[in-house]
Amino acid sequence: MSTVNRQILLNAHPVGDLKHSDFKLVEAPMPTPGEGEVLLQTMYLALEPAMKGWMENRADYVAPLAIGDVMRGYGTARVTESNNDRFPVGSVVSGGLGWQEYLVTDGKSVPIQVLPEGVDIPASMGVLGVTGLTAYFGLMEIGKPIEGDTVLISGAAGATGSIAAQLAKIAGCRVIGMAGSAEKCDWLTGELGLDAAINYKIEDVAARVRETCKGGINIYYDNVGGEILDIALNNLADYARVVICGGISRYNLTGEIPGPKNYFNLVFRRSRMEGFIVTDFASRFGEASAILLEHLREGRLCHRETITDGFENMPNALMSLFTGDNIGKQLVRVSE
Ligand SMILES: NC(=O)c1ccc[n+]([C@@H]2O[C@H](COP(=O)([O-])OP(=O)(O)OC[C@H]3O[C@@H](n4cnc5c(N)ncnc54)[C@H](OP(=O)(O)O)[C@@H]3O)[C@@H](O)[C@H]2O)c1
Repeated sequence: MSTVNRQILLNAHPVGDLKHSDFKLVEAPMPTPGEGEVLLQTMYLALEPAMKGWMENRADYVAPLAIGDVMRGYGTARVTESNNDRFPVGSVVSGGLGWQEYLVTDGKSVPIQVLPEGVDIPASMGVLGVTGLTAYFGLMEIGKPIEGDTVLISGAAGATGSIAAQLAKIAGCRVIGMAGSAEKCDWLTGELGLDAAINYKIEDVAARVRETCKGGINIYYDNVGGEILDIALNNLADYARVVICGGISRYNLTGEIPGPKNYFNLVFRRSRMEGFIVTDFASRFGEASAILLEHLREGRLCHRETITDGFENMPNALMSLFTGDNIGKQLVRVSE
């Protein structure tokens, strides 16, 4: 067993695109569990675009990160030493482990939950984790789909978008996904069964949205913001719902960020645009998790993970979300 604990710290608050110098890989002494504590060995860590905002301290729904702090992140770990009967050696737990290979907790200082035996660990970090819950509450509670609705989704081959798109299909909607490669678009219209896909990097997006959403868009589920949001706003049906889940196209911008030009169409189309943070629905996570699990077991939901090996590749994996290298949930396998 290793004698050091590799950690990745915040080295600089990023400005513009993420850089390797924003992170610092260090070797800390291996922590030792005290009374009531367990030693955890990280197995997988999850990546999300919001981490960029956490590094910049732009997001006010999480505590600020200081230079030298261990990067914040969610993951799964194996209990390798235990002085706590609730977490026996060999059990697999999940929680906000941070970007580090080992961690000591009593289960409360860093809250952890034991994963049920037999659970698919990558799925527990995507479709059955915060990602699935974000897609569920964004679509079902903010979007409120009605059978027959036309639903347009940006970032549709990503972790959240791919689940939101399938939930909209399950709700009986016509679903059009937007993504940044032919491979992603084929996955959307093939395995995921979407009605159409638009490759926003090479197609005329405005023309394709007009063509695929002829009666207007009833729900626009937005993960990207920017020009694509403006095109969607121009093509709303009456009483449309615009779900602002994320806006990755703006996360690396510096200086003044342009607002949506076409927001006034919300007035003409008597429509609503609403943002949300998934934790707003924390009291209902159990209910939604049960529904997602049932969809998965019944074969109504597909999920996909892009798994990068090696703890030292955490910064690359985070950067890859901004270049669109991932399909589905981006994870890093830290240990087997
Ligand atoms: N509101 C909440 O509570 C909440 C919770 C979780 C996540 N989110 C948000 O949901 C969105 C999706 O998150 P995720 O974790 O599921 O990530 P993801 O979609 O798996 O990964 C990000 C994807 O965004 C696309 N992208 C990157 N830069 C882009 C750009 N400039 N324009 C258009 N698309 C771009 C890339 O795909 P392409 O190849 O298609 O470009 C990339 O694969 C993010 O905006 C995130 O911040 C919100």
